[in-house]
Amino acid sequence: MKTTKTAAALIGLIASTHAQYISLTAVRSDSPIHLQTIEAAGQRLSVGGDAATYCPSDMQTRGFCPNTTDDTNFLGGYGGLALGAEVPGGQSVYIDPVCGAVMYTQAHSGFIPNGSIIGGWARQEGKSFGLLTWEGEGTLAGHIGLLACMTERDTYEVYADIGVTPPGDCIGFDVITANQTEAAAWQYM
Ligand SMILES: *[C@@H]1O[C@H](CO)[C@@H](O)[C@H](O)[C@H]1NC(C)=O
Ligand SMILES: *[C@@H]1O[C@H](CO)[C@@H](O)[C@H](O)[C@H]1NC(C)=O
Ligand SMILES: *[C@@H]1O[C@H](CO)[C@@H](O)[C@H](O)[C@H]1NC(C)=O
Repeated sequence: MKTTKTAAALIGLIASTHAQYISLTAVRSDSPIHLQTIEAAGQRLSVGGDAATYCPSDMQTRGFCPNTTDDTNFLGGYGGLALGAEVPGGQSVYIDPVCGAVMYTQAHSGFIPNGSIIGGWARQEGKSFGLLTWEGEGTLAGHIGLLACMTERDTYEVYADIGVTPPGDCIGFDVITANQTEAAAWQYM
């Protein structure tokens, strides 16, 4: 059993070295969110702030934990989007169908609430950075873009424009991507 587990962990590591991780940065000139990174904490994405990450102690002793503890990176962006997490099964990004909040699955759980939006992400590569966009499909066709909305906790949470008004004061923004070489966390909390 131990061997199987180790092999599975190694296969995961090999797979992840081939994956193209990206970090995300918000762009909206003359705003407090300009050039702040997008981070994952509390199952929500926010602009600015720190990521909330965790790496189990047995992974720490084996040297499997990424060194970065307060950064977030991502995978995909062609249709779906996922967090750059090493935990088996990964962590997927989804959009709450009621309020448009951009959220992510907990580690070891693929649970996504019924009706959530998982597609619509698109990437383009440029010379020095890439662009990530979100555009609604199907019944959400015509809805485009992301909003950073200031909450009571003084953080800017990320929402997709699904045609409902998110809570708080919102600012539209664009997202630029930068290639990263490895997952930024074992898992995001
Ligand atoms: C993590 O950081 C330590 C100390 O700075 C370094 O020795 C180690 O090689 C780093 N590990 C990785 C995977 O970068
Ligand atoms: C999921 O939502 C759809 C409508 O959006 C509904 O038709 C379906 O019954 C729901 N499924 C579950 C398991 O709740
Ligand atoms: C990022 O990586 C992809 C895939 O390896 C590559 O096509 C692209 O040119 C890179 N982007 C930049 C800005 O270096």
